[in-house]
Amino acid sequence: MASTPDRGTWGSRSGFILAASGSAVGLGNIWGFPTQVGQGGGGAFVLVYLVCIFLICFPILVAELAIGRRTHQSPVLSFATLRPGTAWWLAGALGVLTGVGILSFYSVIAGWTVAYIWFTASATVTGEPEAIEKFFSEFTANGPSTVGLTFVVLLTTAGVILGGVRSGIERVTKVLMPAFIVLLVVLAVRALTLPGAAVGLAYYLRPDLTRLFDANVFNAALGQAFFSLSLGMGAMITYGSYLDRRDGIANSAVWIVLLDTSIALLAGFIIFPAGFSIDGFNPNSSGPGLIFTVLPQLFSTLPGGQLFGMTFFVLLAMAALTSTISLLEVPVSHFVDARHWPRPKAVGVVTLVVFTLAVPSALGNGEINFLTSIPGIDTDFLTLMATVWNNFALPMGGLLTALFVGWVWRVDHALEELLAHEAWFPNTALWGFLIRWICPLAILSIIIGTVYSMV
Ligand code: TRP
Repeated sequence: MASTPDRGTWGSRSGFILAASGSAVGLGNIWGFPTQVGQGGGGAFVLVYLVCIFLICFPILVAELAIGRRTHQSPVLSFATLRPGTAWWLAGALGVLTGVGILSFYSVIAGWTVAYIWFTASATVTGEPEAIEKFFSEFTANGPSTVGLTFVVLLTTAGVILGGVRSGIERVTKVLMPAFIVLLVVLAVRALTLPGAAVGLAYYLRPDLTRLFDANVFNAALGQAFFSLSLGMGAMITYGSYLDRRDGIANSAVWIVLLDTSIALLAGFIIFPAGFSIDGFNPNSSGPGLIFTVLPQLFSTLPGGQLFGMTFFVLLAMAALTSTISLLEVPVSHFVDARHWPRPKAVGVVTLVVFTLAVPSALGNGEINFLTSIPGIDTDFLTLMATVWNNFALPMGGLLTALFVGWVWRVDHALEELLAHEAWFPNTALWGFLIRWICPLAILSIIIGTVYSMV
């Protein structure tokens, strides 16, 4: 097996779980999940999301980690190592592109969270709901500040990546994750005891069954599930490539999925009860601003709300950073491993490309909207990017991974890797069935259904 001797491994299995959870837990859980629930009609979206997580994403997470640990390579070389001389390396290349695409809009929103550390600490965002919403739209329309903040986020990410990922992420995540969970639980308790919380809770938990036949709900839920678990673009192949063979994969995957999913669900228990306690609240029309308008109002109902709000946005910004790190690491490690670029060059070039692509997303809420002038398109650039990469590129990457592991590398070879050192594995036959049949067929029909509903 060709593997680079100095690539290193995680400090320990818990270090790996922390890093992979750090990649998974981020804006996708706190910002993306509630936003998508709001647009997907509440409880129906939640139900479809959970089905996607357990039936489609969990098996693919295991598959990505197995590929990475088997080859100890970044995604393009992983596919090329397992099937040399074929076109399968393109599946890895799609991941490299997707990493750049996702990071380009992710860094913009991460920039907003950094700004909100200051806005909440200084009590700039308080007062009536209308004032808070107006503040958000004026802030995001301010080109120089959103572009500047995006740049700061990317520069910070590049700085961490430059020093090598592993020790840094392990240490940050170890402190971050428990603190974040405690804070979220406190906020959920506060939100659930607000007047009007019951309406929000019903919206969140009671599925509107008519939405279950909407292809767009399925597509959005699938995209969100991939996005939240950092799947479908080789991030988990990359993280798996730093795993030692003695470290079990399935039990780590269970931890990652449970942590990621419970943090997303927890965010819903905050946003919807708190949102519906505000007069005239409409989750569907709130769009990307949902958390930035609901949370400041929740903080203002808490004693010490300023300090609380500031701490929350500090933790959210850190959670976003452990995710931007994994997004940048995929393209960077590709150019280091496959093209033998020195690490600083790879970091510099990729960061610059991402920043260039991020500028239209950062400016899209302001005067300069590149898209609204095009007939037939009524969305901003950031939303368009999020849709293209999350709802199509990630499921496509997941589809290719499932087909590759199920039919090309083959389930018995994958299981050999997964069961090495008598590792715990819940149900090999079920996993083989899901990865060969259910994952590809479900993803394919969701993509086809969505395209069909668009034309
Ligand atoms: N999972 C992260 C979040 O929920 C985002 C993320 C990090 C990601 N790395 C990824 C998404 C790789 C897809 C692929 O915020």
